[in-house]
Amino acid sequence: MKDLVDNRKRMSLGTKVKVLGLTLKQNGILYTLLLGTYYAGSGLADRAFETMQKRRKKRGLPGLNSRDLNAEIWNAWDWEAGGDEWTPSPEWKTSLVANVLKPRVPAGSVVVEIGPGAGRWTEHLIPIASDYTGIDISSTCVEVCSKKFAAEQTKARFRVNQGNNLPGVADGSVDIIWSFDVFVHINLADIGTYLEEFRRVLKPGGRAIIHHGTTAGHGGGWRSDATTAELNALIASKGLRVAEQFSDWQDGSVRHEVGLYRDQVTVIEKAG
Ligand SMILES: C[S@@+](CC[C@H](N)C(=O)[O-])C[C@H]1O[C@@H](n2cnc3c(N)ncnc32)[C@H](O)[C@@H]1O
Repeated sequence: MKDLVDNRKRMSLGTKVKVLGLTLKQNGILYTLLLGTYYAGSGLADRAFETMQKRRKKRGLPGLNSRDLNAEIWNAWDWEAGGDEWTPSPEWKTSLVANVLKPRVPAGSVVVEIGPGAGRWTEHLIPIASDYTGIDISSTCVEVCSKKFAAEQTKARFRVNQGNNLPGVADGSVDIIWSFDVFVHINLADIGTYLEEFRRVLKPGGRAIIHHGTTAGHGGGWRSDATTAELNALIASKGLRVAEQFSDWQDGSVRHEVGLYRDQVTVIEKAG
């Protein structure tokens, strides 16, 4: 239905008046009044949303992506669906594991996952890793994963963090950092602090594979204030480099999108 409102911009005033008249004639007054309410309400909501995003950027507000809000929301989340409420289709997930995750996480890697949630990607990372640490701002997620992967405790552990640090991870000890559906919700200031942590914990040549937003929240999806340009500048300013950046991938004849909101995956590398 939203497309109906978006498409209004493509019609002249004259056409809109004609369409309104025809709608009224064919559907009656109540239907037309309800349609008018929907139109006006949607337009207002769109404008409020855009103004919200601009105000956030101008005033440096955290919006809905502060560490406090993330902790609150994810601690209270119902993790029954295991994170698959964000999986568009089983084929997408299988393809992501085969074409994005596995080719970039070499067997035997020391892996840190940021924001494992209920372990949607963890179950694929632990078997590949020689050592795995899952770090999440939510103690609920740490409890869920600690229980779910209890059989792996000789090489896997889960820890709560402050939302921008990697506690207990030694300097220069990590091959791969993986984080999916997490940095989309983290503001630039905290991403900057995380990047300093990446530089600290990664081995020379080590990489971080990070799924993130690109439009500073303008495309919806409760995204953070980060744009691709700002993220790339931040990565360079922290002495790291972008090794790869993509918003989709090809699997045979099918092209899969990383996310619904023009999201990307950026592979960040520490110089070897
Ligand atoms: C949308 S869920 C995704 C969970 C999992 N990665 C997945 O794809 O199913 C977001 C996750 O990020 C965690 N999170 C949010 N902000 C964080 C932050 N600043 N640092 C670490 N974890 C964070 C949440 O607690 C939650 O586990």
